Amino acid sequence: MLTTEFPPTAQTVSRLGFGGAAIGLTNYLGQYDAAAATNRDAAMRALQLALDRGVTYFDTAPGYGKGLSEELMGEALAGRTDVVLATKVKLSSAREVRASVEASLRRLRRDSIDLLQIHGGSLDTEAVAAILGRGGMLEQLLRLRVDGLTKAIGFTSEDNNRGVDDLIDSGAFDAMQIAYNLLLQHPYEPTRPFGSLFRAKEKGLFIVTMRTPTSGIFQKWMRLVRPDDTFDYTPALIQFVLSNPLVDVALVGMRTSADVESSAAVWRDETGRIDVPALWGRYV
Ligand SMILES: NC(=O)c1ccc[n+]([C@@H]2O[C@H](COP(=O)([O-])OP(=O)(O)OC[C@H]3O[C@@H](n4cnc5c(N)ncnc54)[C@H](OP(=O)(O)O)[C@@H]3O)[C@@H](O)[C@H]2O)c1
Repeated sequence: MLTTEFPPTAQTVSRLGFGGAAIGLTNYLGQYDAAAATNRDAAMRALQLALDRGVTYFDTAPGYGKGLSEELMGEALAGRTDVVLATKVKLSSAREVRASVEASLRRLRRDSIDLLQIHGGSLDTEAVAAILGRGGMLEQLLRLRVDGLTKAIGFTSEDNNRGVDDLIDSGAFDAMQIAYNLLLQHPYEPTRPFGSLFRAKEKGLFIVTMRTPTSGIFQKWMRLVRPDDTFDYTPALIQFVLSNPLVDVALVGMRTSADVESSAAVWRDETGRIDVPALWGRYV
C-alpha cells in the first residue's frame, strides 16, 4: 500500500512521511548549517519535490531549530489542504501548551494543525501520570482540539515502555509516533505477539515511525566494520519499516532533493516489500 487513511481528517496520505528534524537542526546527525541560505534553498526545493512526488505527510516541531523547520514547512506547504501536517509541543512547555501551539501556527501559516504531538523523548510512568492527571498536558491538548487549533492529538516516544503502554491505554490519543527500525525492534515482536505497535493498533491509534532508516546509525556502523563496502543500505532499511503492516507512516529525515528522490523511489517500489512476520519465523 502506498497510502493510508488519517482517520481524524479522513484524508488519504502517503505512507512515506517527510521528517523535518534534519532541515531545521544545525549539526543534526552530521555537520550542517541549517540557517545557511544555500541550505534553506535546498530544503525548500526538497519540500517542493516531495510534494511533486506525492508525499502528503509532513512532521515537524518547534524544537527543530527554534522553529526553523516549521517556518520552512509553513512556506512550502502554504495553501496545501491535501497534506497532513503534524507538529509537536515540548514536555518542558507543559505550562504553556497554547502559547507554543499559537507560535507554531504562525510559523506554519495555518489556523489549525492536523496533529499535535507531545514531544516525548523518553516518557517514564511518572511523566505519563503527570500528562494524564488533573491539570496535565492532556487536558490542555483536549481543549485545543475542542477549540479547533488542532484536529488530532498524539505523543512521540523513543522508548517502548510502561509509560507508552499507559498513554496508549488511556484511549485519549489519536496517534503515536515511535522509534522503530531494523535496530529498534521492540515495538513489534510478532511471535508472541508483543510491543507498542500491536497495542496501539488494537486501540485504533494512527502509527508513525521515527528514525526509520536508523538515523544513519546502521549505515555508519557498516562503514566502520566494512570500509570498502559501497552497498547503499538505506533503501532496505526504509523497505523494512514500510513492509510492516501495522505502520501507517514511515518518517524519513530528508534534507536534499536527492534524499527525496531516492526515498520516494523506495516508497513507490512495492516489489521491495518483505514479509516481516516471516523474518521472525521459528523452527523449534
Ligand atoms: N519525536 C521525536 O522525538 C523524534 C526523534 C527523532 C526523529 N523524529 C522524526 O523522525 C524523522 C526521521 O528521523 P531522523 O531524521 O532522525 O533520521 P532518519 O530519517 O532515520 O535517518 C536520516 C539519515 O539517514 C541517512 N540517509 C541515507 N540515505 C538517505 C536518504 N535517501 N534520505 C534521507 N536520509 C538518508 C543519512 O545519514 P548519512 O548522511 O550518514 O548517510 C541521514 O542523516 C525526523 O526528521 C523527525 O521528523 C522524531
